[in-house]
Amino acid sequence: GAASKGEYRHYMLKEIFEQPEVIEAVLEGRLSAGSVLVESFGPDAQALFQRARQIHVIACGTSFHAGLVARYWLERYAGVPVQVEVASEYRYRHPVVPEGTLFVALSQSGETADTLAALRFAKTLGYIGSLAICNVPGSSLVRESDVALMTRAGPEIGVASTKAFTTQLVALMLLTLAVAKVQRGDDHRDIVEVLGTLPGLCRQVLALNGQIEALSQAFAEKQHALFLGRGAHYPVALEGALKLKEISYIHAEAYPAGELKHGPLALVDSEMPVISVAPNDDLLEKLKSNLQEVRARGGQLFVFADENVDITGQEGIQVLTLPYVHEALAPLLYTLPLQLLSYHVAVLKGTDVDQPRNLAKSVTVE
Ligand code: G6P
Repeated sequence: GAASKGEYRHYMLKEIFEQPEVIEAVLEGRLSAGSVLVESFGPDAQALFQRARQIHVIACGTSFHAGLVARYWLERYAGVPVQVEVASEYRYRHPVVPEGTLFVALSQSGETADTLAALRFAKTLGYIGSLAICNVPGSSLVRESDVALMTRAGPEIGVASTKAFTTQLVALMLLTLAVAKVQRGDDHRDIVEVLGTLPGLCRQVLALNGQIEALSQAFAEKQHALFLGRGAHYPVALEGALKLKEISYIHAEAYPAGELKHGPLALVDSEMPVISVAPNDDLLEKLKSNLQEVRARGGQLFVFADENVDITGQEGIQVLTLPYVHEALAPLLYTLPLQLLSYHVAVLKGTDVDQPRNLAKSVTVE
């Protein structure tokens, strides 16, 4: 009921603002002395991760986007090849499973029909084992997987997933650290340290709420929007576009910024707002030239940028700065302003934010 929304107008906003504490919760007791505790994944995890020559990740919706981020992390920081696929495709093709492959299913609810069916199908394909990353202990997905890690986000009521996504990302970073530790003896101490500072960084970003609300005015009358990101921020852009579609009903697409010239640039004019995330990483210069291409076509740019990045607001470019964060964790932080942006656009448009039309919180039938 309304009471449990507390001071917030919608569950979605409440859940966005819960992220600092639930990120703390998902980390609780899983790190020690600058290193991840592999046994957080259960007693059998050490042996299983040791044998994992590659990883297949299966999920739907927002959880699929978390999987896409994890692919960048697992390949870069653990050196393990990863494939990520939506469950509804995976279960109906004839996937080839190389020897030594670990199956990972991601799901907030643990009851999504396609994801469950994919897990059951995977059991016939010779994987070394299955890992569920899930928010609901005792769910079908958790019960049927060999090992599991809970995301501890607490109940998520808003149909558009927010805190479930960011806690999945933290869980997937823990997986990345666990695999790197078991297979390479690499603790990634720098990442472990920054993980502890994430809740505080999230609070700083959530303090931009008022500015993001002001920015949202520019979207209320728009029919379309384009989200751009590069590297691990491409899935962040995908998730930003999904949020806008789900609750504001504005048609939104996400592209890896380098692909702009191969199609979407044809759509860019003054009626097409372009939202981009610009963390301070080695793709920054490339991203900046992609943004120039948008400006040159009259596209209105909205950029969420690292405080040390020299992208300045000017005619046609609005910039909101985020605190510096280690690049490994930037996808987590840059998700927050995109959640807030969709939320405020939806409120302006007067849609049913927590119960968007035609969508369900958990899709338990095919
Ligand atoms: C539905 C929800 C999405 C969610 C997806 C997967 O479509 O509306 O928010 O991302 O299901 O759900 P799961 O519980 O498996 O993460």
